Amino acid sequence: MKNLLYFSIAFLVLLIGTLMLIFKIFQAEDELTFDDEQVGLEDQIVIRFSHVVAENTPKGLAVQYFADLVSEKTDNKVKVEIFSNGNLYANDEEALQALKRGEIQMIAPATSKLTPSFPEWQFVDLPFVFPTYEAANEAFNGEIGQYLFSLLEYDHLKGLSFWSNGFKQITSNIGPIQTPRDLSGQHFRIMPSKLLKKQYALLDVKTSMIPFNLTYQSLEDHIVDGTENTLSNIYSKKFYRVQDHLTISNHGFLGYIVLMNNDYWNQLSTDIQMVIIESMEEASEMIQKKSIELNEQSLENIKKDSDIEIYQLTEKEKQQWVEELQPVYGSYESEFGNNLTNELYKIHEKYGVQ
Ligand code: LMR
Repeated sequence: MKNLLYFSIAFLVLLIGTLMLIFKIFQAEDELTFDDEQVGLEDQIVIRFSHVVAENTPKGLAVQYFADLVSEKTDNKVKVEIFSNGNLYANDEEALQALKRGEIQMIAPATSKLTPSFPEWQFVDLPFVFPTYEAANEAFNGEIGQYLFSLLEYDHLKGLSFWSNGFKQITSNIGPIQTPRDLSGQHFRIMPSKLLKKQYALLDVKTSMIPFNLTYQSLEDHIVDGTENTLSNIYSKKFYRVQDHLTISNHGFLGYIVLMNNDYWNQLSTDIQMVIIESMEEASEMIQKKSIELNEQSLENIKKDSDIEIYQLTEKEKQQWVEELQPVYGSYESEFGNNLTNELYKIHEKYGVQ
């Protein structure tokens, strides 16, 4: 009988102990899900920023820099969530539609991608449009920028900044490309801009408007013979591995327009708008410096990493390209209007035509 009593007590102690242990474990798990730093997480504003290039490109780095600044300046209250390499929306056109629908809040497409909706933005596609980065900046900080940015408002878009990537170069499988006539009969991938199409048609080049993320495949499969892009894009997307010739022509400029949905912008508090403006200014300065550095570095990397034949146009040859492409200006002068073209000619006078 005594034994039974001892056994029952021992059993009860064991049971209570086990129950306490189980209780502790659940309590600990409960405590783990509670984290001071997460307080107010629902109050966090998340800005989804989608773009098509690699992280280690001027735009990729500028977006990251902007995101870091915003979270630092708002103590993490505003988080910029980045989707690079077209991972969320495969191309800029889809991303623009998603921005308009409010599915994402920020994008930074190349200006040429805007031209189907805003033909005036073809201005940036003019051949040899900006002789230097400073000239591009001056244009966008002056009347040209003011006018082009104002057009975006008609479509509920808020233009936050103009970012430079840099000068476009030519790559091809059929080459070498030294004179404009060397391109005759080739088929090129271009961005969706009618002006670019016209420019290449002038040189007897057939063109296809292919999304950025399908360009490598189109070059590799010989659907097109060549393309134009900046050195950082040619390097980061490995176009140079499927092309035999690269000509440093600096014949066009690749810039980006950083956009937000205007309705979304208007619902942000003034404080947050200020942080975004400030951070954007800093990121714009950063991309300006970084793009020069990265384009130079990309050229060195391409030389090291491949047998692609690289040709640099001489000044005399470049003049020939300028002259050959001059008619593009004539055919677009009336479309762009006197104000815009006169402003550009002033910039050309100051900085010289390339
Ligand atoms: C392209 O399509 O070539 C560019 O728009 C890519 C980019 O965003 O730099």
